[in-house]
Amino acid sequence: MFARITGVGSYLPGQPVSNTDLLNRGVETDDEWIFSRTGIRTRHLADSSCTSSDLALEAGRRALAAAGTDAGQLDLIILATSTPDFIFPSTACLLQAKLGNQGAMAFDVQAVCSGFAYALTVAEKFIRSGSHKKALVVGAEVFSRILDWEDRTTCVLFGDGAGAVVLEASEAPGILATAAHADGSHHGILSVPGSVCGGKVIGDPFLRMDGQAVFKFAVRVLTDVAKECCEGAGISPSEVDWVIPHQANIRIIESTARKLGLGMEKFIVTVDQHGNTSAASIPLALDVAVRDGRIQRGHKVMLEGVGGGFTWGAVLLEF
Ligand code: UT7
Repeated sequence: MFARITGVGSYLPGQPVSNTDLLNRGVETDDEWIFSRTGIRTRHLADSSCTSSDLALEAGRRALAAAGTDAGQLDLIILATSTPDFIFPSTACLLQAKLGNQGAMAFDVQAVCSGFAYALTVAEKFIRSGSHKKALVVGAEVFSRILDWEDRTTCVLFGDGAGAVVLEASEAPGILATAAHADGSHHGILSVPGSVCGGKVIGDPFLRMDGQAVFKFAVRVLTDVAKECCEGAGISPSEVDWVIPHQANIRIIESTARKLGLGMEKFIVTVDQHGNTSAASIPLALDVAVRDGRIQRGHKVMLEGVGGGFTWGAVLLEF
């Protein structure tokens, strides 16, 4: 018994916001700095009335339509986000209500930019155990809410969006291997170190990052976890048709490709158009590459993420 992706969907709010648009909105930056350091040209930013569950709803509906199924059939909803609508209930439960599903198990996964890889890993275990048959796995973020627009070293990097897959029990492959890890001792290099207490925000409600430390860490673990996942499936990295890394920075993606000995033509890249959408970045990129025909049934696809925590994980699948 495998867990197999039967439908993919995604959603981006509003119109693309260019690097020059950010400059015009008062961020002290320029297109050349952002593009040469990160590969980002545009990102999408949700307006203040739009929440992660709103974005998840659109992506989820598209994934359900692609799978030819409806929300009532789902028995599991896992939503990865670091920008939930509320402290509670979970964004997965809010999505469930918006989709009109009743009775599915629904919960959030919080692993920042590794969230989708973690969520897919968890969903696969439920399906392979036989306890659940049809899951909606979503990554959805409104990261623009936690950006300090006075901090040009971080605010230019991120965007909003959502991506989703329907995962079903199947005799055909299927997810072939998964790997996921964390090392909380690195929590300080990427965090939103605030909380709510007594009706007030205590600490800092904005994203803070040591960019160079994150960069080095990301390249190392993305390389290691891809190799680990290939070993788990008994294949070599060269047998992978497509790699969909977390879309944080083109230089991180290029360094990972070099370390894995793979050409960039195997990597799906959307960071130029989406920026870093955290837990949404992998399913957004997957949806782009499935819809434009690059990823076809039978292709071996490696999804891999890294993010605050620090967390990292990979899922190798036959699409
Ligand atoms: O999901 C994981 C998310 N995190 C990441 O992907 C981050 C990984 N790290 C990186 O991608 C890079 O470290 C950054 C792109 C964040 C920064 O690149 P860097 O080459 O490490 O630059 P830096 O922070 O060392 O800054 C270099 C210069 C500084 O100026 P001075 O002090 O040399 O005069 C910054 O003030 O670049 C300046 N700078 C900017 N200039 C224009 C920083 N941000 C900007 C900006 N526009 N937005």
